[in-house]
Amino acid sequence: MLSFEVSFPTQIFFGMGEINLLGERAKTLGKKALLVTGGNSAKRTGLLARVQTLLEEANIAAVLFDKVEPNPRTATVDAGAALAREQGCDFVLAVGGGSVMDASKAIAAAAKSGRPIYDYMRGNPSGSAKTLVPVVEALPILTIPTVAATGSEANSVTVLTHWETHEKSSFNGPALFPKIAILDPSLTFTVPARVTAEASADIFSHIFESYLISAPGTHVQDGISENLIRLVVEHSVRAIQQPDDAEARGTLLWASTLGISPFALAGRGLRVGMPLHGIEHPLSGFYDMAHGRGLAILSLPYFEQVILPDRPDRLARMGRSCFGITEADDHACARATIEAIRQWYERMGITERLSDFGVNRDALPRLAEDAVHIGGRGYGYLPSSRNLNAEDIVSIYEACL
Ligand code: NZQ
Ligand code: ZN
Repeated sequence: MLSFEVSFPTQIFFGMGEINLLGERAKTLGKKALLVTGGNSAKRTGLLARVQTLLEEANIAAVLFDKVEPNPRTATVDAGAALAREQGCDFVLAVGGGSVMDASKAIAAAAKSGRPIYDYMRGNPSGSAKTLVPVVEALPILTIPTVAATGSEANSVTVLTHWETHEKSSFNGPALFPKIAILDPSLTFTVPARVTAEASADIFSHIFESYLISAPGTHVQDGISENLIRLVVEHSVRAIQQPDDAEARGTLLWASTLGISPFALAGRGLRVGMPLHGIEHPLSGFYDMAHGRGLAILSLPYFEQVILPDRPDRLARMGRSCFGITEADDHACARATIEAIRQWYERMGITERLSDFGVNRDALPRLAEDAVHIGGRGYGYLPSSRNLNAEDIVSIYEACL
């Protein structure tokens, strides 16, 4: 295990019905919220009206910004930040999935600084060179996740898409840690099977990506990661079959928060990040496809082409402890693990190819360039010291067409 420094400062309130104490929690952050939601689900499920009532009862004013799209865009963030400034909001309340929470964090930063949010992003390699501005300040943020997926509720990361250049990239900073997160599993009962599947594949990916290429000696993190993977595989299927299964929804929600936390990820290697995420982001940045579905599709050739030759031992270990594979030989066990993962995706209804989303062969070199230059960011590290290059990434995309 390598040395590390971590901070996990978000105050978390977890439990069925926790939403009812929103007023009390929110009061500690301010008097006027920018209430950020997506365009649809929060209204349809009645959650938005409930949140508005709870705020009103606590004498907290709320300005609604309900324009966040899945795979949130920089233009949306700039509009939200302008509204927060104009209305003098003193904190940001995110009610939604990862897209809403990411947009809210970015709005909180841009509302404070008055800068366009793109100033904080890397810039597309084919665009003009730009200087990256670090995030130093943001309005206080309270998150209420309604999908168990990204862990955005308690981390300092935001992922945005600049639609004109199709740059989809993340940035972070301590100021983006939400001050408070309210995790109420009942708010995720309405998540449809399709989104539950994508979200579960995303949680799985956050855990396995660094687990599979980890530095040695990470026994504590390995135990946590393996337990989380086992639980996500089991409870994703339960939640799809029985959407209001409180135990399954609660398990997925807490697993999503912990799966991307330092408890699972720290100490695995300074340059070990999420290589597959770097390869997926250009796809959702260009084709607007769901992030988790893209990860699931890409993961199978990623295991075959990258992990199987380099780290069959780790893939085999994951198979034995999380998927019940009993093969003694590491290579055979690793292969059986890939098949077990494919079957789990299939049970959740993830069966597409990239061509189903309009991706064709001609597009692959550009996507791979973006993966290296934007998604890359020092990711793509493997213990063999081999960085994934554009050719490797094209080959993974090709296997998914
Ligand atoms: O947009 P609305 O109308 O709210 O509907 C959403 C959306 O259509 C719907 N939904 C959300 N809560 C619901 C619900 N439907 C019924 N009942 C509910 N309770 O679900 C759809 C997907 O929502 P979205 O927020 O886009 O999904 P997710 O939570 O998977 O977030 C994906 C985004 O997060 C980024 C991804 O790249 C993507 O942009 N990520 C953020 C990370 C982070 N901040 O650390 C890490 C991740 O790896 C990821 O990259
Ligand atoms: Zn993810």
